[in-house]
Amino acid sequence: MTYQVIIPAAGQGKRMGAGKNKLLLELNHIPVIIHTLRVFEEDELCEGIILAIHPQDEEEFKSLLEKYQIKKVLALVPGGKERQDSIYYALKAVKSDGIILVHDAARPFILKKHIHRLLDTAQITGAAIIGVPAKDTMKTVRDHMVMATVERSSLWAVQTPQAFHFSLLYRAYEKAVKDCYIGTDDSSLVERISHPVTMVEGDYDNIKLTTQEDLFFAEAIVKKRQGSF
Ligand code: CTP
Ligand code: MG
Repeated sequence: MTYQVIIPAAGQGKRMGAGKNKLLLELNHIPVIIHTLRVFEEDELCEGIILAIHPQDEEEFKSLLEKYQIKKVLALVPGGKERQDSIYYALKAVKSDGIILVHDAARPFILKKHIHRLLDTAQITGAAIIGVPAKDTMKTVRDHMVMATVERSSLWAVQTPQAFHFSLLYRAYEKAVKDCYIGTDDSSLVERISHPVTMVEGDYDNIKLTTQEDLFFAEAIVKKRQGSF
């Protein structure tokens, strides 16, 4: 079973404070966006990539796709104001009714074995997401006062990719648009239309590059994978 993947890359990277889209920063001399795209380029089960980009990055992204020989990009779509808007526009460019994955361009360390584990589950259940069990003790806090300690065994940190039957995800997005609902991930939109979502265990290296300190962790993960750490 194959899949297509939507990669939202149209953010501005404001929290990274690099003065440009964080996806253009380099890790091991290769731009972050290329690290992410290569995982899918090299996955034999990936049929195609729909990439949402900010119009101001269009020329640079196009030349990077050329330079690094990324051939699976089926469409480059202009992103929107929010991540959810970018994915909605990308969904409209999908021309297949199979499994669709959504994966943040800012998570360059996703492994093929985890993509395939997610895919296998989504084929059966229609909706699956990847995440890891919470390691820290978690509490709810209001005005700096602890309200409660949440039972940790039921808490998972959610990552991407998230995988769905295309028609299910599209229906979830249409409903969110109709209700003016903005969720923090794709699964939350599917949960709202009462479809069960299965959690698949991934790994802690699949970080999202958000702030400057994440770049230090990222360098460490690169070294670990090169076997030089
Ligand atoms: N994204 C997008 N369209 C947007 C906002 C975000 O396609 N309007 C993408 C980003 O490029 C990123 C992913 O969604 O790959 C996750 O978003 P985030 O980590 O928040 O990245 P940015 O929005 O770029 O960063 P910031 O919120 O710090 O500005
Ligand atoms: Mg953002």
